[in-house]
Amino acid sequence: MRVRSLPSRDGASPKLPIVRLAHSGRALLGKVPLRSDRPDRPDWLRMEVLERLHVLEAARVRKGSRVVEVASGPQAITTMPLAYMVGPAGRVIAVERSRWGEFSTLLDEVGLSHRVHALQGDAELLPLRSRAVDLAVCVHGIRSLGTDRNVVRVLREMLRVSPRSSLAESLPSARTRAQRAHLRMYGLRAPSFRLAWGRIDDRPYRPLHRLVSLVKRAGGHVEEVRTIDMRLPHTLAAFPRSILESAPPGSLRARLLHRWDEANLELEQFGEEHPPAGTISATSR
Ligand SMILES: C[S@@+](CC[C@H](N)C(=O)[O-])C[C@H]1O[C@@H](n2cnc3c(N)ncnc32)[C@H](O)[C@@H]1O
Repeated sequence: MRVRSLPSRDGASPKLPIVRLAHSGRALLGKVPLRSDRPDRPDWLRMEVLERLHVLEAARVRKGSRVVEVASGPQAITTMPLAYMVGPAGRVIAVERSRWGEFSTLLDEVGLSHRVHALQGDAELLPLRSRAVDLAVCVHGIRSLGTDRNVVRVLREMLRVSPRSSLAESLPSARTRAQRAHLRMYGLRAPSFRLAWGRIDDRPYRPLHRLVSLVKRAGGHVEEVRTIDMRLPHTLAAFPRSILESAPPGSLRARLLHRWDEANLELEQFGEEHPPAGTISATSR
């Protein structure tokens, strides 16, 4: 399958990279519904699934395998490609603490629910015996697991239940203005939510060397580390300005509002792209 990535609006690199998928994800992508929640970008969910199909290549998902996915999230963005990649005889166990949203509706729509078992719970304690599955995966979920300590606990569980584990996570680096625009807006989420709600959801992206050291701390033997820069459109960093406006007034709110306006302008000018993703494949010792 060959997919040309959409142009970013910075015009910085005249040659757009070609995204090549070793396996054919076309059959799946065609079934992922177009969306009305982002009229400017009705294909946003397809683009996210395409990004996951690509980063999952590093995980070498085998047909017929049993895969546990931690931090699967409300839109099954990684679960759909995983269920597709394991084939009819494979199974995906999706573990999510609380946010199920459209998970089962979307899996129904792409016709893959029968390959997925959904488990609600904390991935720090997986209800599976040692080496119960062939592969453990966490894609763009490390950011949501909490502190380094929480991350290490989850990684330890992944390494316990599976001989092979694979992570993919966005990195805090940008090569284009559209990637920088994403990082600027994404970087505002934690301080803005802390101020408005007294809590954060996702943490700042960690550099790749730090992700590698967390895997080692959890007892993993790191087999392969890659950085993938796909230049695919992204849409998920933005959050409504009204969240910040509802925060208690003061100099911090004023500074954050100013930064939000700057970041929003950059998103409008340059568009938004996925920053490079780091992938780590590890085995349990
Ligand atoms: C960024 S989202 C989903 C990422 C998704 N895998 C994707 O590809 O877009 C991360 C999810 O992790 C969940 N989560 C956070 N900590 C968790 C934990 N300890 N156990 C299970 N799920 C957790 C959150 O509820 C959230 O829905």
